[in-house]
Amino acid sequence: MTTSTRTEAVNQLVRFDKVQRTAHWMNALLFGVLMFTAIPLYFGSFFGIVFPRHVIQEIHLWSGLMLPAPVLVSMAGPWGRRMREDVRRFSYWTRSEIRWMKTLGRSPLDADKYNPGQKANALFVGAVIVVMWATGCILQWFRFFPVSWRTGATVTHDFFAFAIFAAVAGHVFMALTHREVLVSIFKGTVSEEWAEHHAREWLDEEQVSN
Ligand code: HEM
Repeated sequence: MTTSTRTEAVNQLVRFDKVQRTAHWMNALLFGVLMFTAIPLYFGSFFGIVFPRHVIQEIHLWSGLMLPAPVLVSMAGPWGRRMREDVRRFSYWTRSEIRWMKTLGRSPLDADKYNPGQKANALFVGAVIVVMWATGCILQWFRFFPVSWRTGATVTHDFFAFAIFAAVAGHVFMALTHREVLVSIFKGTVSEEWAEHHAREWLDEEQVSN
């Protein structure tokens, strides 16, 4: 994980390249549309207020089928090197990170590019894309599955839908209360000073690779 990330401007490090930022915002848009359309799908009485039922169902289905695309495309080719590096980072946990997570941030941390909360969020998002996609396909093409699968898929789809609303609320709250991280998902960079305080291990990696 030693790609050069220094920018021309002094004291700035590239945290997200264009591919990662595009993938993030495409993913956010699809999640937003799915969550918005999920409300009338769950509470049937909302139907018809703005759009008729079949329109909402079609929007939900097509944005659902597209959901894995931003992550897969952003990782696929030569353009996805940084994305693949970060996905490897998400699945690599040190003892200090596990301890930090268990103590809810009260133990010392050798901070990586992403803190354990951010890593857990990224893993959660990856997992729900798979779960929602699979269960959504069963809900749509239910006639090819036994009743027990259909029931299981409905319960799982609903359960994860609630978890997604909670996780997205937490994610947005953390983003809005951590200004430099928020700016980095628009601009792509963070200051070395920020990295020194919040991502020391990553800063060391960057300094070695430059
Ligand atoms: C952010 C992700 C998602 C959320 C929050 C979400 C939420 C929901 C909710 C709450 C329902 C209503 C279930 C019920 O009536 O008990 C639903 C239905 C459905 N979802 Fe999703 N979903 C998501 C992703 C997906 C994906 C990825 C697919 C893709 C294939 C999908 C396909 C469907 C289908 C086909 C239905 C049934 C619609 C109908 O009533 O005809 N969903 N979803």
